[in-house]
Amino acid sequence: MNNNETIQHLIAQMSLVEKIGQLQQTSYFSDVITGSELDTSETLQLIRDGKIGSILSVHDVKILRELQRLAVEESRLGIPLFFAFDVIHGYRTAFPINLALACSFDPLLIEQVATASAFEASHSGMHLTFSPMVDIVRDPRWGRVMESNGEDPFLSSVLAAAYVKGYQGKNLHDDGTLAACVKHFAGYGFSEAGRDYNTVDISNRQLFTTILPPFRAAIDAGVAMVMTGFNVLFDRPATANDYLLQDVLRQQLQFQGVIISDYSSTEELMEHKVASTIKEVAYQCFSAGIDHEMGATSFQTSLASLVQEGEIALSDIDAAVHRLLTLKQKLGLFADPYRRFYHHHERFLLTEETKQVALDAAQKSIILLKNSGILPCRSDKRFAVVGPFATSQDLIGEWPGLAKKEEVISLADAFLASGITVDVFPTLDDVQLASLDQYDLVVVTLGENGNEAGEGYSKVDLSIKKEQLNMFDYCVSNSNHVLAVVFAGRPLIITDIDKKAQAILYAFQPGTQAGLALVNLITGVTSPSAKCAMTFPSHQGQIPLYYNHFKTGRPIKLDDPMYRYRTHYIDHSNEPLYPFGYGLHYGVTVLSSMSLSRQEITPSTSVVVRVQIENQSGVTITEVVQCYIEALTYSVARPVNELKSFQRVNLLGQQNQTIEFELHVEDFKSYNIDMIWTAENRDYLIKVGTSSKTVLTEKIHIKD
Ligand code: GLC
Repeated sequence: MNNNETIQHLIAQMSLVEKIGQLQQTSYFSDVITGSELDTSETLQLIRDGKIGSILSVHDVKILRELQRLAVEESRLGIPLFFAFDVIHGYRTAFPINLALACSFDPLLIEQVATASAFEASHSGMHLTFSPMVDIVRDPRWGRVMESNGEDPFLSSVLAAAYVKGYQGKNLHDDGTLAACVKHFAGYGFSEAGRDYNTVDISNRQLFTTILPPFRAAIDAGVAMVMTGFNVLFDRPATANDYLLQDVLRQQLQFQGVIISDYSSTEELMEHKVASTIKEVAYQCFSAGIDHEMGATSFQTSLASLVQEGEIALSDIDAAVHRLLTLKQKLGLFADPYRRFYHHHERFLLTEETKQVALDAAQKSIILLKNSGILPCRSDKRFAVVGPFATSQDLIGEWPGLAKKEEVISLADAFLASGITVDVFPTLDDVQLASLDQYDLVVVTLGENGNEAGEGYSKVDLSIKKEQLNMFDYCVSNSNHVLAVVFAGRPLIITDIDKKAQAILYAFQPGTQAGLALVNLITGVTSPSAKCAMTFPSHQGQIPLYYNHFKTGRPIKLDDPMYRYRTHYIDHSNEPLYPFGYGLHYGVTVLSSMSLSRQEITPSTSVVVRVQIENQSGVTITEVVQCYIEALTYSVARPVNELKSFQRVNLLGQQNQTIEFELHVEDFKSYNIDMIWTAENRDYLIKVGTSSKTVLTEKIHIKD
């Protein structure tokens, strides 16, 4: 029998209760949300009864092996469990938070990070990760921006595919692979006011042009699972939204894999007030398309009666079970359910290889936002490190996996490990005892603790804390060699820091190799290359602020920005502090001589965009050259800028190169007034730059 026949044969032997059991994912020790202890003996009995399909967030390999043994050897049909966990930016080796990783604009790096994460997790008994998170974000008040790929659909799509490829490898049977679960379907990142779990109200066109592209990319890359969001969208909770899950996800995106709810998002229909009983919850969620219920038991308690009452077709239950068993078959669970429970699995964790990937990732994810020339600073100079993060190891951020803060190298320790003398002043009182003018570089550390961004961590105040500002102000008053290093899970409002510091490195939360990456960047071992994957507002009142906005009927008058009857504020500019795609390096790059291979393209032709790039410094650097388009007219409003391609270009000192982007008609399309995906035979601009504030432009006509 082939795989499908084997699965069909197994389903034919299953009772209705056992079928519904495969649709259940549960915690084991404690409820993930409330933290309340669960009755493990009850779970063990449910496993024996074949009423559990998978378990999340259990890490002890001995316990995993025993749970699997129960399922395989003590349940009637011996169907193995799969084990899932949030391996979001690493398992035991902590990589930078995902928003920082996105700033690398480096899909190969993302793939390496995902592969390294999968290697550690799969050698520790894990089968599936609830990653990549691809919610498009525009509001840094939302704590979960830290785990996103930022504000741009194209960048998030490229990185989503890279995560899936890195996690899943060529075959889920293979050692070192993890099934991936793309989330949160859909629109969760647009939670109103940045308040977690809040309502989302966007147009259907916004769904298709902005929110769906990274999901499409993950699905096209073969992602095994899709997780629904907590939020309401189009007036229904995403977890029980027939339009979203059937019309869009199953029909239009052609997703064939498992759809899982988020933790208790099924039973939250009661809180949403669209269901008044658990039975209604089960009916609405299963009918909409949920195959696997996480952290709630509406399916376990109510699906059987719904089938017996003819409300739900047994064939639909069988189809959901088929998808779950197919995933288990792809994971090799029927061939060897114990394969991933390695003895002494610690040997696969925190290896030199994964730590090297973590160092490389951190170096490529830290953004140089300002440099008046004090960086790089040679390692034989005098260094002072000031502030609450000077010796901190709280640099992993949320979704830490099993990473341990005590395994993070702090900034101060990294200086010492690099053989560099450094004086450390954790507080303002300490630093006031020193004469700062004796130091060639005063590194002032600022920002957020690791648990100020992440799920459930929305904030209304994105400013730097008062006591940190006092310390910073003291330092800039007593030294003109101040580098501000900001640790955070989101873009903070650092306009004052930008005015007074001579240099700024935005480190986000860099993970296990945090300090070493920073010292290597500060001393010029390597040059920064990261670019903002999310806009940095210059004032909190501008939020939401993003680069791919519409022009409006009264765009700001750049020659008279305070002109009244234009889209502007009377008390602040529209401009961000740092725009999407912005970031510095230690060189000086100049773009010039843009040309197009043709002035018009059709579906059977493409245009090659050529640009000269020159590094006018003597320093080896990497520049991220970005290619955008703009529709000069279209049947609906379209953004003033749309990223369509980018390249990381390595340049030696004084080196110049010709770089090429190839664009096709597909790159210019959008959903027109009739929701048809087309370029509408119109004129467009192609724009190239080293940020979304592009510098070179050429016009082209598109015939499709
Ligand atoms: C959480 C998150 C989701 C995560 C899941 C399991 O509530 O919303 O992203 O994967 O529960 O931990």
